[in-house]
Amino acid sequence: MNNQISIAIDGPAAAGKSTVAKIVAEKLSYIYIDTGAMYRALTYKAISNKVDLEDEQALMNILNETSIELLPSEKGQLIYLDGEDVTNDIRTSEVTNSVSIVSMHRLVREEMVSRQQSFAHSGGVVMDGRDIGTHVLPNAEVKVFLLASVEERALRRHNENIQKGFPSDLEKLKEEISLRDKLDSEREVAPLKKAEDAEEIDTTSLTIEQVVEKIMDLTNERMGRD
Ligand code: CDP
Ligand code: CDP
Repeated sequence: MNNQISIAIDGPAAAGKSTVAKIVAEKLSYIYIDTGAMYRALTYKAISNKVDLEDEQALMNILNETSIELLPSEKGQLIYLDGEDVTNDIRTSEVTNSVSIVSMHRLVREEMVSRQQSFAHSGGVVMDGRDIGTHVLPNAEVKVFLLASVEERALRRHNENIQKGFPSDLEKLKEEISLRDKLDSEREVAPLKKAEDAEEIDTTSLTIEQVVEKIMDLTNERMGRD
């Protein structure tokens, strides 16, 4: 049996996708691909170049000349944009609050999906995002859709900010997360949606370890071992 499977993890903002995806990838010695980081990297470059984020063709002109690499390191995954480390630059609130506009465009998504599929072509991958189970890896052996209440998700981001010593406003976070979820779920192209064959996990009252355990159970089941 081929034991290099693909695991798709989707869900709304701050549901815990990247945290658990990284741990699952590590446990299985698989590669982890953060697709949100790719949309963030393009958004960062577009903002830096003062490109109109509504202008699909202008975004495509940039994207076609842009290299985005996800490189593992001792500090975790690093994101390189045209050879430069932008791991922290792509997490600012300016990028976070603009990325859903950039990710709405059909041509942008087509190019991103094609790059994501080429990263994953040999299997042994854990990929997280919004459309992985529905569009990027429709044949993934394990598909998970993570949920949590918006209150819990805002609180998670808030605690993260406080831990890092960043200023944080819980109510504002809640509003920003709700708006991003709305834009991501209501867009025409590949909206945020649970794949029919995905397992839904409500993580509101689960610890990270419990979520990881559920995904590992599904994976072991699919791979035909205990
Ligand atoms: O980590 P967080 O939930 O804040 O977001 P992310 O995974 O970094 O994704 C940032 C944004 O990229 C999302 O809000 C979507 O607009 C977009 N995205 C997408 O459209 N499709 C994906 N597969 C991944 C992200
Ligand atoms: O990738 P996504 O935006 O879905 O979420 P994340 O960045 O992985 O997780 C957001 C925060 O929630 C992190 O600080 C996690 O440590 C935390 N978290 C949690 O407290 N409980 C969980 N069951 C999952 C994540």
